[in-house]
Amino acid sequence: MKDIRILGIETSCDETAASVVLNGRTVLSNVISSQIDVHTLFGGVVPEIASRKHIEKIDQVITMALDKAGVGFGDLDAVAVTYGPGLVGALLVGVSEAKAIAWARHLPLIGVHHIEGHVSANYIEHPDLEPPFMCEIISGGHTHLVIVEDYGKFRILGRTRDDAAGEAFDKVARAIGLGYPGGPKIDRAAREGNPAAIDFPRSHVEDKGKTNLTFARGSHEMSPYDFSFSGLKSAVLNYLNQCRMTGQEWHQADVAASFQAAVVDSLTDTAMRAVKDFGVDRFAIAGGVAANSALRAAMKQACEENHVTFYYPSPVYCTDNAAMIATAGYYEYISGRRSGWNLNAVPNLQLGER
Ligand code: KG4
Ligand code: ZN
Repeated sequence: MKDIRILGIETSCDETAASVVLNGRTVLSNVISSQIDVHTLFGGVVPEIASRKHIEKIDQVITMALDKAGVGFGDLDAVAVTYGPGLVGALLVGVSEAKAIAWARHLPLIGVHHIEGHVSANYIEHPDLEPPFMCEIISGGHTHLVIVEDYGKFRILGRTRDDAAGEAFDKVARAIGLGYPGGPKIDRAAREGNPAAIDFPRSHVEDKGKTNLTFARGSHEMSPYDFSFSGLKSAVLNYLNQCRMTGQEWHQADVAASFQAAVVDSLTDTAMRAVKDFGVDRFAIAGGVAANSALRAAMKQACEENHVTFYYPSPVYCTDNAAMIATAGYYEYISGRRSGWNLNAVPNLQLGER
């Protein structure tokens, strides 16, 4: 079969990224320009600044990705770009850039679902991994447990009923004075802390049964594999308030470690319950929170105990990058799916929607 080289472009949040991937699995280049420094000044991502920074960087990042891969536009077979979910202004930069390149070079354009990209990050370093398998997607905006039935085809088993896991990391980090970006800072601080210092609640939503509820993000039938992190976040805030009111000292590293342990327990317990219930033998994690060192260690051990093969991307492929978008784009490409010139940014694109 002919070699297929896909240029991937990712601008859904605060990383401007471009990558060239060969045949869906071999990364020829992976360039990421992070905006962390500028957003740190504001304690979080400022959407308007993110869009402006993407515009400033995108051409340079794509040129670097092509140079590092040793290819020119003429060597590409398609352009894949994240079109949602994400910040609308940020997504539009990538989508417009991808359209311009595809139009000018007569290349197919492929709009990629950001979450499908995160799942696909697992294919990069695991040539043996093919659907079906179970995957827990844990990012700043999403917490989903799915069965990947085929490339780009998901059966959703559960999702968060309130905050995403990464959102909880970011909010707690701010509350305990660690600032942005919260996840990596809590990960680091927790290494010096005692995870058993404070007994924060583990969310158990399985006992609530199945009820029809309408969520802000659309209608969703409750599932025994759903997650919930807002109660845990409130418990941390209450603990800090109580300490302040009673003049009791609190330790940043202990709060970080105890909070992280509660998140890790919830994510691990729910995943392993589903692994047993569905009898799967392969389990993967994906998304920014999948870079968390305590989570990776806990999942590894739990998968061993349950005789399940555990897959996880290197940290650089867990957080936002364009290699995962090019990889997801490859499987769209070989299945014949193409986007039209009317491709638009869809900020609240749901998983399973195209
Ligand atoms: O997947 P991602 O890069 O972007 C989204 O699609 O949302 O995920 C970003 C999230 C942020 O909430 C960040 O705090 C979290 O992933 N994160 C981590 C770690 N690295 C990134 N959370 C916990 N531990 C980490 N090491
Ligand atoms: Zn992401």
